Amino acid sequence: MTNTLLILPGDGIGPEVMAEVRRVIDWFGDKRSIAFDVSEDLVGGAAYDKHGTPLHDDTMAKAQEVDAVLLGAVGGPKYDVLDFSVKPERGLLRLRKEMDLFANLRPAQCFDALADFSSLKKDVVAGLDIMIVRELTSGVYFGEPRGIFEEGNERVGINTQRYTESEIERVARAAFELAMRRNKKLCSMEKANVMESGILWREVVTRVGKEYPEVETSHMYADNGAMQLVRAPKQFDVIVTDNLFGDILSDCAAMLTGSLGMLPSASLGAPMASGRPRAMYEPVHGSAPDIAGQGKANPIACILSFAMALRYSYDLGAEADRLEAAIEKVLADGVRTADLMGPEGGTPVSTSGMGDAILAALDASL
Ligand code: IPM
Ligand code: MG
Repeated sequence: MTNTLLILPGDGIGPEVMAEVRRVIDWFGDKRSIAFDVSEDLVGGAAYDKHGTPLHDDTMAKAQEVDAVLLGAVGGPKYDVLDFSVKPERGLLRLRKEMDLFANLRPAQCFDALADFSSLKKDVVAGLDIMIVRELTSGVYFGEPRGIFEEGNERVGINTQRYTESEIERVARAAFELAMRRNKKLCSMEKANVMESGILWREVVTRVGKEYPEVETSHMYADNGAMQLVRAPKQFDVIVTDNLFGDILSDCAAMLTGSLGMLPSASLGAPMASGRPRAMYEPVHGSAPDIAGQGKANPIACILSFAMALRYSYDLGAEADRLEAAIEKVLADGVRTADLMGPEGGTPVSTSGMGDAILAALDASL
């Protein structure tokens, strides 16, 4: 089976972190004889600059055909003035929606070597390993009606939180399946105390949970969830929540680990004819325009996103373990991009220096 991959570096630091992923991909070809058929295209501001749209139809069509898409980051101040409909983020949202990537997996793992980096006390976060499953194709991000309308002598901005039972059911099932492969604990978060969509969410998650009697299921209001995440994050294993709460809670969970530059994500949809799930992988960090092009960016989140692709798209879990272990070793050895440089020091490296260190650790793993 060939392994096809579409790379969309995007804007800001996207291209430079993706260049390091390319080197890792080549390493797997050279040293492990695992070949990837890689193509590359534009998304976000880069696509707008060339085509006047943040995602060309041809790129969208290509994304539907490959085994996996790997996206860098989109956006930048240069594009703030653009009309909403052509902003870089619309390219990303279109990919998610048209590929129907309903389950967004955002692991928040605290590497031992970085536990001091968290803004929380070390013992609260050391060894943290949680997985947020965010619904990604519905809810208030996409619900109708939406828009800015005239009402009497003023305007009103409207967005709609809308969830069907089947939309809740499929993301809940994905989360329970993950919980079964982890520590068998699942916490669902919504606002059933204020929102009807939350009442339905809780009902459906409870129903799906009956199919997974081994999983210890709990429910929390999302505001309490945010509080618990910073109070005692290690109480959680898998968290399942809607699109907007998931957006917010996953940023919160990400920061527990010390640096946004460390966190990967996978967005998965239904299986394709090949049996592989439709999938897109992306680092959680944004385009960081303030440091773009300076060789300062941390490529680890993007490389870990590729590791997730190895695991979830290409059925190469052992190679994903190898790559993750190489990164852990590099961090334990004190190799640090600027975002990871703390009072205890370490060896400062550039974006490509971090790539060099990871490739060396991969070589050492053979
Ligand atoms: C994310 C981002 C996106 C979102 C933006 C860039 C549209 O914040 O992936 O978390 O809100 O989903
Ligand atoms: Mg976000």
